[in-house]
Amino acid sequence: MASHSRAFSLVALCLLLKVVLRGTAETLVPAVFVFGDSMVDIGNNNFIEKCNIGCKANYPPFGIDYLNHTPTGRFSNGYNLADQLAQLLHFDESPPPFLSLSNASLKTRMRTGINFASGGSGLLIATGNGPCTQVFSMTEQVRNFTMLARKWGRADLMSKSLIFINTGSNDLFEYTFSDHNCSRNDTEFLQSLVASYRSFLMDLYGAGAKKFSVVSPSLVGCCPSQRAIAHDPKNPRDVDKFGCFAAANNLSWQLYPMIATMLHDLCLELPGMNYSLVDSIKIVEWVFYNTVIPNYNFTVLDMACCGGGPFGADGCNSSATLCQNRNNHLFWDDYHPTTAATGVAAKLVFDDTTGLFVHPINLQQLIEL
Ligand SMILES: *[C@@H]1O[C@H](CO)[C@@H](O)[C@H](O)[C@H]1NC(C)=O
Ligand SMILES: *[C@@H]1O[C@H](CO)[C@@H](O)[C@H](O)[C@H]1NC(C)=O
Ligand SMILES: *[C@@H]1O[C@H](CO)[C@@H](O)[C@H](O)[C@H]1NC(C)=O
Ligand SMILES: *[C@@H]1O[C@H](CO)[C@@H](O)[C@H](O)[C@H]1NC(C)=O
Ligand SMILES: *[C@@H]1O[C@H](CO)[C@@H](O)[C@H](O)[C@H]1NC(C)=O
Ligand SMILES: *[C@@H]1O[C@H](CO)[C@@H](O)[C@H](O)[C@H]1NC(C)=O
Ligand SMILES: *[C@@H]1O[C@H](CO)[C@@H](O)[C@H](O)[C@H]1NC(C)=O
Ligand SMILES: *[C@@H]1O[C@H](CO)[C@@H](O)[C@H](O)[C@H]1NC(C)=O
Repeated sequence: MASHSRAFSLVALCLLLKVVLRGTAETLVPAVFVFGDSMVDIGNNNFIEKCNIGCKANYPPFGIDYLNHTPTGRFSNGYNLADQLAQLLHFDESPPPFLSLSNASLKTRMRTGINFASGGSGLLIATGNGPCTQVFSMTEQVRNFTMLARKWGRADLMSKSLIFINTGSNDLFEYTFSDHNCSRNDTEFLQSLVASYRSFLMDLYGAGAKKFSVVSPSLVGCCPSQRAIAHDPKNPRDVDKFGCFAAANNLSWQLYPMIATMLHDLCLELPGMNYSLVDSIKIVEWVFYNTVIPNYNFTVLDMACCGGGPFGADGCNSSATLCQNRNNHLFWDDYHPTTAATGVAAKLVFDDTTGLFVHPINLQQLIEL
């Protein structure tokens, strides 16, 4: 009996090992490296002392739909875009926050992926950084990655790994707020963003990365905070056909084709580089026009789920009011989409074949190259 049960546990152990090993072997890419802002930050900002409460999300009700309702620093009610993408790539868990890792674990994590993203950051080093607040800028994100890649990167793994970037919205938010400057030139500003983007991509390529998934800034003027600004009765601004802050959305509209051209040209210049550009503007427009999407029913497109005041845009915290149904809201708080909304986006990023939302190929096609 005893030997029988020992044999049984050996079999069980082997099966378990097989599952565990297969679990790792079956990820669709060796590693994912995530860069950018709060759309994909999974807790880096928790480790930044000078980052004030507005740039942290490690308190309830953030994470209310996460495992054990834990607030983790994700700017979401549950999983965010980085998590949902990692799931689609068959990873057991999202690559961990860079700032949470010890030097010893950084080495092994360079084989499976690291998340460098920081809420509040943008393409410009000044974005998110002020006298009393600090974020982990894209410049630092990329520099730390290239340093690690030089030290521990394996060229064969790196060239098959995925670089996933979601950045640029915060630059647009801050620029829109600084509209007291009459001598500004929108085109020059947007060109500076694209130049900065280009140099980050070149640095990442220089460190051995070949596959890039780039998410463009969405219609930034449509998030509750911007709708509230546009509809402020004391100082109303122009709104567009969606009732969103027109000046902010105008910047998004102008920026997208500039990013598309930059990527197209860069790909011709850098041998072996390939990319998938996500048109987030098209995705959000599609949701506006088709609120009933298989498995989803977005009935509230303008109000934040968490927060009081007009458009629920007064900020999300433990004393703020919470909506009844988080699955029918496009926005979780004044700036960020719900897990339901990013779930729709992640699916399109991964395998959209309509040609409307990802260019020139989707993520699945990118990783199969
Ligand atoms: C970790 O590595 C960095 C850069 O190589 C170094 O500056 C730092 O002192 C190291 N930290 C520890 C605790 O060893
Ligand atoms: C890497 O990240 C740390 C924050 O942990 C930052 O202090 C440092 O400046 C970064 N390194 C580079 C080369 O940007
Ligand atoms: C105003 O904008 C111009 C052009 O973009 C820039 O050079 C200048 O530094 C800005 N001034 C202020 C006070 O922000
Ligand atoms: C803005 O900058 C662009 C590019 O440098 C230039 O072509 C354009 O004339 C400028 N517009 C104004 C109003 O100065
Ligand atoms: C954006 O605004 C500029 C003027 O500020 C205008 O010329 C342009 O047509 C607008 N673009 C879009 C796409 O709305
Ligand atoms: C991948 O990139 C190479 C150049 O780096 C290009 O020739 C090729 O067409 C790209 N493949 C796809 C599917 O875009
Ligand atoms: C979507 O929700 C609305 C409001 O709750 C409801 O009237 C409608 O029937 C729902 N549509 C679908 C397809 O579930
Ligand atoms: C919490 O959020 C509510 C509404 O969004 C706001 O009115 C209140 O000032 C916030 N409380 C704190 C302590 O920030």
